[in-house]
Amino acid sequence: MDQPLEAYQDEIYLAGLGGVTPDLPTDLNELEWAAAGRLTPQAHAYIAGGAGSGDTARENREAFRRWRIVPRMLTDVGAPCYASTVLGAELPVPFLLAPVGALGIAHPDGEVAVARAAASCGVPMVLSTASSTPMEQVADASGDGQRWYQLYWPRDRAVAASFLARAKAAGFTVLVITLDTRLLAWRPRDLDQAYLPFLRGIGVQNYLTDPAFQALLAEPASADLGEAVLQYIRIFGDPSLTWADLSFARDHWDGPIVLKGILSVADAERAAEAGMDGIIVSNHGGRQVDGAVAALDALPGIAAAVGGRLTVLFDSGIRGGSDMLKALALGARAVLIGRPYAFGLGMGGADGVRHVLRALRNDFELTMRLSGYASLDELGPQSLVRA
Ligand SMILES: Cc1cc2nc3c(=O)[nH]c(=O)nc-3n(C[C@H](O)[C@H](O)[C@H](O)COP(=O)(O)O)c2cc1C
Repeated sequence: MDQPLEAYQDEIYLAGLGGVTPDLPTDLNELEWAAAGRLTPQAHAYIAGGAGSGDTARENREAFRRWRIVPRMLTDVGAPCYASTVLGAELPVPFLLAPVGALGIAHPDGEVAVARAAASCGVPMVLSTASSTPMEQVADASGDGQRWYQLYWPRDRAVAASFLARAKAAGFTVLVITLDTRLLAWRPRDLDQAYLPFLRGIGVQNYLTDPAFQALLAEPASADLGEAVLQYIRIFGDPSLTWADLSFARDHWDGPIVLKGILSVADAERAAEAGMDGIIVSNHGGRQVDGAVAALDALPGIAAAVGGRLTVLFDSGIRGGSDMLKALALGARAVLIGRPYAFGLGMGGADGVRHVLRALRNDFELTMRLSGYASLDELGPQSLVRA
């Protein structure tokens, strides 16, 4: 797979000759602050916030600072290639869009804008069960784009089976099952504003359009949205799930299955024993267990234990090319980003998402070349030192 390098940096500098500067920050860390005045306070808090004191969200970022890159010189980075194939998806550079629910709170075009931007950049999108647009419409917007489907496993098995059948029919190729959201965490920034998008009918669109879900309602959602939302709350999660239940997913999905939210070697081993294809080492961006281990700190041990048997992916805290390099060096095959593209969407719709994807790609390619690496397989623990 020979891929031309991203030339976003050149475009930006050239546009500057005509007095044009980028609409959105090129340091993706800055997006959160830049978005503050441009999203509603509720939407901003919902996207930026974490569980409890925010300790794990902060720690996710700190963990990256504890590893330093050791650049190598005179290694021929004249014609690098950073493309790879992960669970059948072709990645121009090794990142994907993490599932982020209720994107309609950030921008009226929500997931449709994200799907268009992702497809135009060749980046796979993982669509959340909690999307504010039905999955079939997102698939249409995605066109030939690569798409994976993330399941929030509902308490009602008929609804779960129906979601999987719909996702398959709509061309989603990989199933991501999120395990860390058995219940919604204590999130003070949302609680202080008494704001949860789902209660306001945003992020429940896959449920409202689902025949198995509709069968649970006494009246159509169009007649009584309040009752439909209450039914959604009743069935949203199943805290009684165990490893034995994964066979249900296998029976209803014939493509690769990835478990999201793995943070221990023991659980990674169990995922391999259960015949899963991959895992995402993730703490949900620090949104579930306040005080949980930084995802990056969990990564090396897990990758060493199961990297030969499972496709190990990573998210939580990626904000730039050097973060990507570090996660790959510590054993991830690819990473996912969450908040940066949600803020990009909020500030600029599909163009805002495209800005984030192009910036991250160009930053990654430059960081790799400047560090002396012409391909992904040259990366390893030797690429880093512990600060
Ligand atoms: C606003 C928001 C909504 C999210 N919704 C979902 C979701 O519906 N399903 C899911 O598996 N993860 C969800 N996540 C977690 C992301 O998939 C991902 O794990 C996390 O955002 C990665 O951390 P980062 O934001 O630091 O990149 C959400 C994250 C955010 C910020």
